[in-house]
Amino acid sequence: MVKSMKADLHADLVVVANRLPVDRVTNPDGSQGWRTSPGGLVTAIEPVLNDNDGVWIGWPGGTDEAMEPFTDNGLHLVPLSMSEQEIEEHYEGFSNATLWPLYHDLAARPEFHREWWDTYQRVNRRFAEKAAEVAAEGGTVWVHDYQLQLVPAMLRELRPDLTIGFYLHIPFPPGELFQQLPWRRQILEGLLGADLVGFQLAGAAQNFIRLVRQRVGHKTHRDLVYLPDGRTVRATAFPISIDARGLDELSRTESVVKRSEEIREALGNPRKVFLGVDRLDYTKGIYARLRAFAEVIADGHFDVDDAVFVQVAVPSREQVETYKVLRDEIERLVGRINGDHGKLGQPAIHYLHSSYPREEMAALYRTADVMVVTPYRDGMNLVAKEYVACRANDDGALVLSEFAGAADELRQAWLVNPYDLNGMKQALLDAYRAEDRELGRRMRAMRKTIRQHDVAAWADSFMSSLAEVRGAHRKTLQP
Ligand code: F6P
Repeated sequence: MVKSMKADLHADLVVVANRLPVDRVTNPDGSQGWRTSPGGLVTAIEPVLNDNDGVWIGWPGGTDEAMEPFTDNGLHLVPLSMSEQEIEEHYEGFSNATLWPLYHDLAARPEFHREWWDTYQRVNRRFAEKAAEVAAEGGTVWVHDYQLQLVPAMLRELRPDLTIGFYLHIPFPPGELFQQLPWRRQILEGLLGADLVGFQLAGAAQNFIRLVRQRVGHKTHRDLVYLPDGRTVRATAFPISIDARGLDELSRTESVVKRSEEIREALGNPRKVFLGVDRLDYTKGIYARLRAFAEVIADGHFDVDDAVFVQVAVPSREQVETYKVLRDEIERLVGRINGDHGKLGQPAIHYLHSSYPREEMAALYRTADVMVVTPYRDGMNLVAKEYVACRANDDGALVLSEFAGAADELRQAWLVNPYDLNGMKQALLDAYRAEDRELGRRMRAMRKTIRQHDVAAWADSFMSSLAEVRGAHRKTLQP
């Protein structure tokens, strides 16, 4: 349901993210509407927003003219439009062709363009101004991700009364890489506008603290930065998670169980189904993993009657050149592998360039005997956790890159170095051959981990840390 919202909003909690948590849809009668985006972030933040009557500021996608705030399914949304040039230079350019590869271990070569930086600053300022406008006196603002790293400092300047949290969903790189950025100091200072800066992993928080000490010259101790004006900033890890219980329940529903049987049947009832699910992104290691699978077949360990690979590649950032090139490379490789190893009606790789609803994903996870998650670098990787959540029978194997944040928690996966092709081949084979007892032992342990650390626990832990710094912050503001 969509309702327009009062213009004179003053919210105690404001979430600021590059995108709104809803996607535009065309209804059966041809009218335009919104659908809540799939993914855990909305699930996690929705209760926090509802408890605080909060609002979410974000880009609705596309290049529409200014839109009025509206309410959809109880979520108060404040759209912030972007021009074509802003999409090109802020979103596709600085965010996804400069910061994204730089923060992901240079998985592609980052491009540094001064015009992109100008637009990044301009868009960040618009987000900060909008947050300053809608946040109530003494309220809390939670800013998300790499597209908006300047917002905390810009917002603090406009509204020193606010408590500001920032959470980075992607990795934060070590100094040797970060220092390539011509605007490194401005980014660090932008983040230091927050009271609390959250990262996926402790290592990322340490990278940040060290850079602040070396580059900006502030005093630091453990996870604290001491600013010259007397303020302190805390930088620490809050590993994100998923709605583990919700997915577990979904994976047991009759319709998902039935759909999973249909999928296996459609794949020709092989002994084992391998699965990869990723946005089509060069950080995900899709090419190397498919090569490894093909080589295991070529080495004669199994053929397409024994095992097939389903690769879901969700379209992503399709206007960015590196993503276009990647798509061509992967599709060429899939064609070659199927040409070499497929049989009539039995391809080795089932390649799907599409996104699917939650139910279909749960059915795919339920079908997969071996889930293969092999990014070169990933902040967390929620697919690995979603797979575990959907294995209600405590079976199935997870092959997981040691460079995904999730590897810190899912220690019982078959951990691999995605740069080591032979190592990956061996892990695929070990997972394929693993005995039921071994699978059960590993899966039970991983399921316990994700049940204990679900997305609600993540949001609670960030919000309560923010409330603590808020207490301290209030004291410093008192005369
Ligand atoms: O992983 C970082 C992230 O920004 C996620 O928050 C998001 O789901 C994904 O990348 C895709 O982002 P977008 O389509 O907005 O570029």
